Amino acid sequence: PAAHTADLVVFGGTGDLSMRKLLPALYHSDRDGRLSPETRVIALSRGGLTDADFRGKVDAQVRDVVPVDDHAMWQRFLGRLHHLTVDVGGQDRTGWDALRATLAEDRDRVFYLASPPRTFGPFCREVDRAGLVTPRSRVVLEKPLGHDLPSAQRINDEVGAIFDEHQIFRIDHYLGKETVQNLLVLRFANAFLEPIWNSLWIDHVQITAAETVGTPGRRGYYDHAGALRDMVQNHLLQLLTLTAMEPPARNDREAIRDEKVKVLQALRPITGGEVGRFTVRGQYTAADGMAGYLEEPGSTPPTESSERVETFTAIRAEIRNWRWAGVPFYLRTGKRLPNRRSEIVVQFKDVPHSIFPGGSPNRLVLRLQPEEGIELHIMAKEPGAGEVSLKPVPLSLNFGETFPARVPEAYERLLSDVLAGNPTLFMRRDEVEAAWRWIDPILDAWRSSPELPEPYPAGTTGPAGAHELLGRSGRAWHEEE
Ligand code: BG6
Repeated sequence: PAAHTADLVVFGGTGDLSMRKLLPALYHSDRDGRLSPETRVIALSRGGLTDADFRGKVDAQVRDVVPVDDHAMWQRFLGRLHHLTVDVGGQDRTGWDALRATLAEDRDRVFYLASPPRTFGPFCREVDRAGLVTPRSRVVLEKPLGHDLPSAQRINDEVGAIFDEHQIFRIDHYLGKETVQNLLVLRFANAFLEPIWNSLWIDHVQITAAETVGTPGRRGYYDHAGALRDMVQNHLLQLLTLTAMEPPARNDREAIRDEKVKVLQALRPITGGEVGRFTVRGQYTAADGMAGYLEEPGSTPPTESSERVETFTAIRAEIRNWRWAGVPFYLRTGKRLPNRRSEIVVQFKDVPHSIFPGGSPNRLVLRLQPEEGIELHIMAKEPGAGEVSLKPVPLSLNFGETFPARVPEAYERLLSDVLAGNPTLFMRRDEVEAAWRWIDPILDAWRSSPELPEPYPAGTTGPAGAHELLGRSGRAWHEEE
């Protein structure tokens, strides 16, 4: 189908996200012929840049992170880019008037807010005041969507006063990752998994997003976020919903999101004294030449709240419904861990009755990164004429090897969906709020606890508590076995 022609208006368009993710993703889409020739990108900032200045900046900063093998193509891409200076909440209307004059009446308009959440409401009001909202307009909100349930509700109310829910696209870039979309295909386009995808056959699930990076230069944001808000409220809970949801009746935006929200609503609340038992917090300390969280270089010095910020968290979650009762979902994420690895591990139960010595239960591993793939660990007989000897072996699908085409980045997929008006892979209001409703009591208990996060040396697998969280029920994190 012909690509949609749209004007993509990026607020915060000269910022880090735009330079690192959005513009590279758009360039890739352009290069693959998935961007309509007339689609334009209009970056808004306070910076006073001309189109030529902005193109020069993109040329200098983005060219190195994308494969520019075709000069003419790159020039054509730069030609789509424009810049306007706007003042949010101020008296100066010049920028907004210029934007109105620039936007084409007969196109879709996408307002992409790559800016802090406190700007979402004011920006939407400005766009409305300038008379820019048409029925063919959409708005894209970047995370974090608030810092707790009340603030998320406030943002949703403010944006919802200007745009209808079907026009609001809340980004969680994990939903754009190939393996994440593949999870739905794996579960619902194959017959063999669904009958055993329940508490009868599954012992527990582990969802890990481990990163090697620390937080240098991000203190201003991270001190107020921490791993729970930064990664669990959104990315990890989204992976949990896709793993645990019931089969939807149709591959349809609302049908899928309806099932996802039911999972979030079924999460057993972790409150008060239970928080200490079912959650773990850690903070990395200096080791191996790497700075600790408190010593990371940044624009602001560490404060008292820096000491309380978790750069690691592990949680034992439970879903209260027929399918999952009694099956723990262990969530874990952290900075400065030894490897960058994100995966969903579904650990099956042992066979009901074993006739061979030495077997171990099956395990399905869905790897999101670094290399996207799926592995099913099965038991096989080691060749040999002597005693039967069992060995766990992986049946594996490596996407890179099986599908030679380049695997698109999450943002490419999500931007195409926004331009095409398809919200399936975006979070609906009720999803975001249900996620906060589960997160808030954990935050409250951490806040009122006299304890600080457990220290772990940078480059190690997290604090001891994370290992005990599984160890006390005889389980272990995947890489420890
Ligand atoms: C972002 C978080 O949402 O996700 C970052 O704010 C984190 O702290 C990043 O590093 C991880 O994304 P990815 O795609 O590298 O796993």
